[in-house]
Amino acid sequence: MLKDTVESFGWVSRLFHWVIALMVLGMLAGGLLLGFLPGGGFKSLIVGLHKSTGAAILVLMIFRLWWRYINPRPRDLGPNAFENQLGRLMHVFLYVLVLLQPIFGILMSQAFGSPVRVFGLFTLPSIIGRSDAAGAVFSQMHTITAVLLAIAVAVHIAAALKHHYVDQDRTLMRMISGK
Ligand code: HEM
Ligand code: HEM
Repeated sequence: MLKDTVESFGWVSRLFHWVIALMVLGMLAGGLLLGFLPGGGFKSLIVGLHKSTGAAILVLMIFRLWWRYINPRPRDLGPNAFENQLGRLMHVFLYVLVLLQPIFGILMSQAFGSPVRVFGLFTLPSIIGRSDAAGAVFSQMHTITAVLLAIAVAVHIAAALKHHYVDQDRTLMRMISGK
């Protein structure tokens, strides 16, 4: 099934979810690793990969939101209205964080005068001029959003496991297999 229905997620939404989930988890771990790496060729390689993958996440998120907009929304399966509402709020929060994080990363890099080259193919147009002060602000935002994102993802995974093992509903399975 290509498109989402009121009952479940189609394969496009599932693919978006799992590809972006893996990328975001990798980016959180990779970003953390960056802090421990000594400066040099290897670090530049990892930073380049981090920036390229982050830019790719931003593009994927735009398509994902468009797809979400033109599809019906699968109904909530939680045990009560409060938890369903909480789940919806959490998904909006995740979407916002995953959109903001690459934007802050791009603004930080450009403000620090480091162009964003995407997988060695092309360079993103500059949206902000060189300014160390602005770079420092976006660097802080990038750190804060990363922490919020890590917490939100941990809660999100715990909620998915609660649905599966405690409530024993189809929430996790319909995101995995669509059934
Ligand atoms: C969803 C996307 C992204 C995630 C989850 C992410 C996550 C992280 C994390 C966890 C750190 C370590 C934070 C710290 O040490 O304070 C980091 C550092 C960094 N990120 Fe990202 N990032 C993303 C996208 C981007 C993008 C698109 C760029 C630039 C184009 C970028 C550029 C950087 C740079 C240059 C650093 C190291 C320097 C610094 O923090 O001052 N990131 N990122
Ligand atoms: C790796 C473990 C993960 C598991 C087990 C998991 C599980 C799920 C499940 C079961 C749903 C469907 C919820 C529903 O039907 O209402 C869902 C939705 C969602 N997940 Fe995850 N997820 C994971 C990672 C992530 C990550 C890393 C992100 C983003 C950073 C993420 C973002 C989202 C969003 C935004 C939705 C809402 C989809 C929509 O209804 O539009 N997930 N996830």
